[in-house]
Amino acid sequence: MKLIRVRDYGELSSEAFRVMQQALSSERPVLGLATGSSPIGLYKKMIADHNSAGTSYDQVLTWNLDEYVGLPKQADQSYWTFMHENLFLGIEIPEKNVHLPSGEAADLAAECARYEASLQQVQIDLQVLGIGVNGHIGFNEPGTSFDSQTHIVQLTEQTRQDNKRFFGGELDRVPTQAITMGIADIMRARKILLLVSGENKAAALQQVMQGEVSEQCPATILQRHENVIIIADEAACSRL
Ligand code: GLP
Repeated sequence: MKLIRVRDYGELSSEAFRVMQQALSSERPVLGLATGSSPIGLYKKMIADHNSAGTSYDQVLTWNLDEYVGLPKQADQSYWTFMHENLFLGIEIPEKNVHLPSGEAADLAAECARYEASLQQVQIDLQVLGIGVNGHIGFNEPGTSFDSQTHIVQLTEQTRQDNKRFFGGELDRVPTQAITMGIADIMRARKILLLVSGENKAAALQQVMQGEVSEQCPATILQRHENVIIIADEAACSRL
């Protein structure tokens, strides 16, 4: 794992954009994308670059990590909406190129199988990741098997508390389940870019860098991947 330490979130986003540009320079790039606050700065830079330099996304394919169960995709807080508002509309990527699991499928097991089958058709060139305070990646909560593929998860209290800010601060409105790529899916990516910002992530980053590899802290599995870049700001590095 290569750690790039930066001062703040602005620098983190600039460094992340450099890594993204490399991935975009290949012929038919396949991106794995994340939601949450961590990649928003990167996505803003991708949109600015699309507008100023004309970078085209016609040949780019994307797969997202996860989606809430039970929210219609058009709901304000769905990850489908998040991705369209924060990236897809801005970079004008064709709708047929983007893939997200559907949290509103009537048969969730079938939806997991469908999404997993679509993922198995490709290899992700660059997987963007954030990290949960408890070390989750995607929505793979502590205790998830490292062999997991796309599956339904029960969200932990901690994760629902952390994410309630996107639901007007009301815990009751945060779904209790999600559909997520598994850890094995994430580990199949050629390159992984983990973005870590803020004091509240310091303990999780410490585990990733210095802890033992354990399913109790899912992100520690990244120690076993041969091509991981971690970009972390000063606050996130405060325990290293
Ligand atoms: C959510 C998402 C993760 C994300 C994590 C951290 O639970 N499912 O993919 O990495 O939160 O989010 P943030 O970047 O907002 O701290």
